[in-house]
Amino acid sequence: MIKMPADRGGTRSLVGQIPDPHELYGREQFIEHLWRMLQANNVMLLAPRRFGKSGIMRHVLLKPASGFFPIALDLEDVDSNEEFVWRVTRELLVHDTTRAFLARAKRLPSMAVDWVKDTFDEVGFEGAKVKFKAAIGSDWKAEARSMLTELEKADQTIVFLFDELPKMLDRIVEKQGESAARDFLGWFRTVRLAPKDVLRRHRFVVAGSVGIDQILRRLGAVDTLVDFARLALEPLDDATAEKLVQDLAVFFALGWSPDLSRVLFELLGPPVPYFIHLFFAQLAQLPPDRRAKLTTTDLKGTYANRLLGPTCRHYLGHYSDRLRRYGVRREKAAFAILRAVAAHGRVTRPSLYEKYRRAHGRGATEEGFDDVIADLQTDWYVQLDPETNEFHFRLKVMRDWWTRWYPPESRRRLIAGKRGQP
Ligand SMILES: Nc1ncnc2c1ncn2[C@@H]1O[C@H](COP(=O)(O)OP(=O)(O)OP(=O)(O)O)[C@@H](O)[C@H]1O
Ligand SMILES: [Mg+2]
Repeated sequence: MIKMPADRGGTRSLVGQIPDPHELYGREQFIEHLWRMLQANNVMLLAPRRFGKSGIMRHVLLKPASGFFPIALDLEDVDSNEEFVWRVTRELLVHDTTRAFLARAKRLPSMAVDWVKDTFDEVGFEGAKVKFKAAIGSDWKAEARSMLTELEKADQTIVFLFDELPKMLDRIVEKQGESAARDFLGWFRTVRLAPKDVLRRHRFVVAGSVGIDQILRRLGAVDTLVDFARLALEPLDDATAEKLVQDLAVFFALGWSPDLSRVLFELLGPPVPYFIHLFFAQLAQLPPDRRAKLTTTDLKGTYANRLLGPTCRHYLGHYSDRLRRYGVRREKAAFAILRAVAAHGRVTRPSLYEKYRRAHGRGATEEGFDDVIADLQTDWYVQLDPETNEFHFRLKVMRDWWTRWYPPESRRRLIAGKRGQP
């Protein structure tokens, strides 16, 4: 019989859900460092999709250092500045600590005043959303700033955890245009920094499943987040990865051996916990007799046919879907670059430029190429080996997946060539 997670010291099969603090493997030092950095900085978490950013934020939320009061907001579906203010206000009203403080504050958005009671009527507030947003209208900047400024007088430092900030900016651009997104960034700066770039009292931790630099560049706002310390989340160290593997083998009642661990890590490359979880969720579907005495052949088969195969495509599809954000020509160029690096393993800059130029067609420039390559690096697809000046995939599993689903497309080039395209 399957034991429940609580009986097993916290191991569950997680294939994309945000891990609870006790389910995080090996992030203790990272979290310690994060709290240390928060003393004098805001923090931006950088990592490719599914590396564990939201899990870290959840840890910050549920296990704060003393003197801090975290407030978490998932901004994924926020598409206007008014919606953002409404969300922040709701979050501040939901918590007794912040609501009590707001009750004593001198300046509040007039709409919020009515809701600062002993208990918070969340359903009623939800119902008043349209009115709230309309009332706050063009005053949103001043109203929201004064609310946050009042809160700076609280005993504890508030840590705002903004997950999916880049997606929010994307959506605001899409729905309201670039100037609305610039407005947000301008406002966001004023609540973080006093004049002369002195950090104010609150702290902010931001993350996103897509990199933020691309949207900042588009908005001409690359310098707006200077007060953020950029912390990169890496794959696990070997010992921690092995511990996760052992625990999952026990959880799924798999016959395990050191040989299997060795092959598993050879197949996956750098141990990203998400891929380990995915791998085990697939191994667990083998027939019981094979699960009891797994072989390295089982592992290789599961990797090639399941992890890289159609069954898991939706788990990994975001690595190609997200390139849509680049726009049609740049997306095509990015695909051509990734196909080439996947096929050849290591490719020099000049030959990638050639791939980019052909795929992009009209309007291809060196600057445009540099932008695409920079994005592919910050989004952690590829990495430059400075010794050889060659690009290669950062993760073996990603290269294998890319090769499987996006093999080099000589045929397409042939047709394009016949039509006389570049
Ligand atoms: N420290 C960890 N220990 C164990 N598993 C982890 C850890 N971090 C992440 N995971 C695995 O990765 C998955 C995704 O975690 P999380 O949602 O925190 O990542 P994310 O970086 O926020 O992803 P996204 O970019 O999609 O928002 C989890 O479901 C789990 O399988
Ligand atoms: Mg996340």
